[in-house]
Amino acid sequence: MGILNQPAIGDEKFALICQHQQENNNNPEKITMSSKNLSTIALHAGQVPDPTTGARAVPIYQTTSYVFKNTEHAANLFALKEFGNIYTRLMNPTTDVFEQRVAAIEGGTGALGVASGMAAITYALLAITRLGDEIVAGNNLYGGTYQLFHYTFPKLGRIVRFVNSRDPPSIPQGNYAQNTRHLH
Ligand SMILES: Cc1ncc(COP(=O)(O)O)c(C=O)c1O
Repeated sequence: MGILNQPAIGDEKFALICQHQQENNNNPEKITMSSKNLSTIALHAGQVPDPTTGARAVPIYQTTSYVFKNTEHAANLFALKEFGNIYTRLMNPTTDVFEQRVAAIEGGTGALGVASGMAAITYALLAITRLGDEIVAGNNLYGGTYQLFHYTFPKLGRIVRFVNSRDPPSIPQGNYAQNTRHLH
């Protein structure tokens, strides 16, 4: 996948990820991690072992909700003035380790974990495109992605231009439309 322009993301989750990532970058464990090999990063990045129990494996936090210290704490969290867990659909400590780990492996600023590949493609492309934007896609995609691009995205105002993946001259070499946001 390739992104032609800067993503125009302004949503709450992205702001939270950036804020959290900044705090995370100041974490000494994270700084040490960046100098490790890929296999070590894949196993340990994003996790600080439990200081109380010393448990090595990432705990699975099954909670949906979190206890706020007081109303001011809750207000600050919801106003994004302070980083912290608000609600599991938005953030969860287990998912957070996964997201930080993927970001560390990919050298990204942050990551967002979702439950399926199709959800990931949908979220990513809805985030970087707006109504009327174009996606240029090869015509030999995974079936689910092809259906998403052929049927669903046009209903959401995204124009998908399929090109023949087996015929490179048909692929517009750098000659994209002003509104082309993504090559897939
Ligand atoms: C290339 C590719 N894209 C997307 C998907 C969709 O992933 P999921 O089944 O997790 O939605 C798959 C699944 O095999 C895939 O191979």
